[in-house]
Amino acid sequence: MEELVGLCKRRGFIFPSSEIYGGYTGFFDYGPLGVELRNNIKQAWWQDFVHRRDDVEGLDSTIIMHPDIWKASGHVDGFSDPMVDCKESKLRYRADQLFVAAVQLDSEQVGYVAFLEGSDSASILKRAKKVRDLLDRKQSSLNEELLLQSHIEFTEVDAEQRALTLGPDATAVDTLTEPREFKLMFETKVGPLADDSATAYLRPETAQGIFANYKNIVDTGRVKIPFGIAQIGKAFRNEITPRNFIFRSREFEQMEIEYFIAPDADWRTLHREWLDTCISWLVSIGLPRDAISEDVHPKDKLAFYSQATTDLMFHFPHGEQELWGIACRSDYDLKQHQEHSGKSMELFDEASKSKFVPHVIEPSLGVDRTLLAVLTAAYCQDEVPNEKGATETRTLLKFSPKIAPYKAAIFPLLKNKPELVERAQALYKKLQRRWNVFYDASGAIGRRYRRQDEIGTPYGITIDFDTIEKDGSVTLRDRDTCEQKRVSEAELIDFLEAQIDGH
Ligand code: GAP
Repeated sequence: MEELVGLCKRRGFIFPSSEIYGGYTGFFDYGPLGVELRNNIKQAWWQDFVHRRDDVEGLDSTIIMHPDIWKASGHVDGFSDPMVDCKESKLRYRADQLFVAAVQLDSEQVGYVAFLEGSDSASILKRAKKVRDLLDRKQSSLNEELLLQSHIEFTEVDAEQRALTLGPDATAVDTLTEPREFKLMFETKVGPLADDSATAYLRPETAQGIFANYKNIVDTGRVKIPFGIAQIGKAFRNEITPRNFIFRSREFEQMEIEYFIAPDADWRTLHREWLDTCISWLVSIGLPRDAISEDVHPKDKLAFYSQATTDLMFHFPHGEQELWGIACRSDYDLKQHQEHSGKSMELFDEASKSKFVPHVIEPSLGVDRTLLAVLTAAYCQDEVPNEKGATETRTLLKFSPKIAPYKAAIFPLLKNKPELVERAQALYKKLQRRWNVFYDASGAIGRRYRRQDEIGTPYGITIDFDTIEKDGSVTLRDRDTCEQKRVSEAELIDFLEAQIDGH
């Protein structure tokens, strides 16, 4: 993760927000390459889920909506996480991401250590030894097996155990508070009044904008059940512990679909179809199939309105984590809005001549999390020969051409030969009309290739003396294999078109 964060900053993908003021936890800015990658991911999603499907329509609703929407959806009362404070370090943790292990010395239960989800055995062991030192029992034998194998969530710890627990960043035991509910929605005021009646919320999901507009879209008369409404947009959550780079941030973007189905539809089959469609899409943007797994939520952990939820998990640098949540949300949201707004959410289905409130399947994906998954999958290092024949290590991002920030880089072999420069510039301008391409004339050609490898440009195109003196062909270099071949300009354009637009 550290290498990825360093590369993202160095090459202009992602910067910490407000960096000149020391940064602002949980917020990130996307630089010149980051914004291209981000836009390409969104565009690929929109193209595949809206343009190329006859059963999905697009929407762009506001970030701030009538506050009653969030009362109806249950967010005002229920959208919170259990939070734990450390009285000593002043740090705050999510109780459901904090685990506790028992410290047993000479077969006697003497205390506990709390650690964050994903901590490794060595650091848990180190903290347990700290407890042993605090008790002044350096000579006692520590039960390592028990320590490393029996963990419970902090939410399950009782007051007595808490009093004996060493927090993740504390130097003494008994500094962690009891878990408290922490509201995740950001509040703001709308209008000139400053009292409670002016309170509004920054949306924590784009989904409610879809439910709130469902009637409008149905009334335009274009849709027939089953159908979906898709939206891409910002969402805000005052996360207690924004962590792992852009994985969990306070301002992020979602790509969501609410797919409306008849109440008696075979939702299990449709849910499975959506899972398969979403997996295929992730593979189409370059994620390896074997890095994606499914986490089926157990029945007793489902939200009360959910019939089934399966998360598509991805192997991020910090472990196997949720990338895409695909939930069957029944008719809960529409019925809530029907009740709170007094407006009917019923649909008249011509085919069955019946009226009903549809159920919904909701594939909900984070743009930033997808971008992190794409970066994780693309980042690698290999050994390649340099210009002097020795091997050197190169860092490269193996982005799929479909989403790569630059699709190709155009190089005149030498920058001080006007005829090469002119020809390269002409090709650059021509390709630029269709794709985002890069022009680079400075430095040795090998160094120019490396710079592009590091930012994931899939193709290098070199204009040399054969181009201008012979047949007009150019050298096309492949980023991943470093293989080069000569192609005519027409072949080059056909090739790029197939690789970039052809999926
Ligand atoms: N409408 C359903 C919903 O919002 P969610 O599981 O809370 O469900 C859906 O969020 C997706 O949004 C997640 O799978 C993840 O990709 C992304 N996401 C959620 N919280 C995020 C955060 N704090 N930072 C970045 N992405 C987030």
